[in-house]
Amino acid sequence: MKFPDLVHAFKPDPVTNQQDGERIFDFISHIPEAMHMITFLFSPYGIPANYREMQGSGVNTYKWVNADGQAVLVKYHWEPKQGIRNLTQAQAEEIQAKNFNHATQDLYEAIERGDYPEWELLVQIMSDDEHPELDFDPLDDTKLWPQDQFPWLPVGRMVLNRNPENYFVEVEQAAFGTGVLVDGLDFSDDKMLQGRTLSYSDTQRYRVGPNYLQLPINAPKKHVATNQQGGQMAYRVDLGLDQNPHVNYEPSSLGGLHEAPKAGKDHTPWIEGHLVRQKIERTNDYKQAGERYRMFEDWERDDLILNLVNTLKPARRHIQERMVWHFSQCDPDYGRRVAEGLGIGVNADGAPSGSADGGNGAGGNGRGSTIGSDAAAANEAAGSAEEQGRESRPY
Ligand code: HEM
Repeated sequence: MKFPDLVHAFKPDPVTNQQDGERIFDFISHIPEAMHMITFLFSPYGIPANYREMQGSGVNTYKWVNADGQAVLVKYHWEPKQGIRNLTQAQAEEIQAKNFNHATQDLYEAIERGDYPEWELLVQIMSDDEHPELDFDPLDDTKLWPQDQFPWLPVGRMVLNRNPENYFVEVEQAAFGTGVLVDGLDFSDDKMLQGRTLSYSDTQRYRVGPNYLQLPINAPKKHVATNQQGGQMAYRVDLGLDQNPHVNYEPSSLGGLHEAPKAGKDHTPWIEGHLVRQKIERTNDYKQAGERYRMFEDWERDDLILNLVNTLKPARRHIQERMVWHFSQCDPDYGRRVAEGLGIGVNADGAPSGSADGGNGAGGNGRGSTIGSDAAAANEAAGSAEEQGRESRPY
């Protein structure tokens, strides 16, 4: 299970408490399936200009089940009607130095002035089979389903037309989770979806409270009656129409609830084979990352390279070289440009051609590095803060 490791690698060093490019890429350099995500994250797509002009993606694959119990695989996408706008690292540094709430402010003010942001909900649909014609596993979360084979079909829209009356009540206490389903929606065998489904509600029972689903922001808009009751801070008396309040079990002949009739036939997928704990077999970890690299505009590619080079600079040479090799597999130009920025030569096959420092580790342990921005400038800023600070009296 990789998720805790991913989170640890991206979080601050447990000793220095600083986020550290070397730790991130030490981990990522062993995870080729992360290349597409890294290519997105270090490009301007990793820094949306604001919340209104960013895309959303369900990432995981669900199933849609019809009344006959037949299912298809489905992936969700939210497309902003406002368009998509991203920032370079330099722009973000300038803006955030002056206002680190800029995205929240932008959203709040747009809604206040009646300029309601709107997203179109689109789905991609695939039959629930092996799909040997694809060069990736359809349930691999690190891959996108190609749009030309699986067109985006519009199915709905979301308009944000009111700000919260109280941020804590309506945002902090909101509990989204992958396991909250409506009739006709089901889980696929997507492994990460199954992990998330257990994890979100488990966290929310602790973070918000065991009855978090009774809070107005999380409760269904339609009345539901179940026999699930009790637990700390229960404040809703959950009774059906004419229900005998003494009977909270089923079946019963004393006026308790009856199970609702099924909305349609059950979906009964055919299962055969061993249930195993192993990696997805059909991977093609570099192709989509390379396509993404080539799809970027020049300014997006330039910023991607700059951010990767700056974050990788303080890392030890063997980590830099592994990353250059991965980038070269995505696209030779991608690897060459990161190598150039790091002062590493590359052979025609994309492999680093020997280290400038003889492989002894040019970068040290990466302490003091910041993500995306120039590590030397960031170190200088940290050093100069004391000089720039003015003496003040104790309070
Ligand atoms: C496709 C991969 C994933 C995406 C896009 C994703 C996205 C998110 C987002 C947007 C949040 C809310 C963060 C916030 O409000 O500050 C979140 C929270 C969370 N995520 Fe994920 N996540 C992913 C994978 C996972 C996995 C694999 C697990 C565990 C197995 C997990 C466990 C959690 C938990 C427990 C929370 C906190 C939920 C809460 O307190 O309401 N996530 N995730």
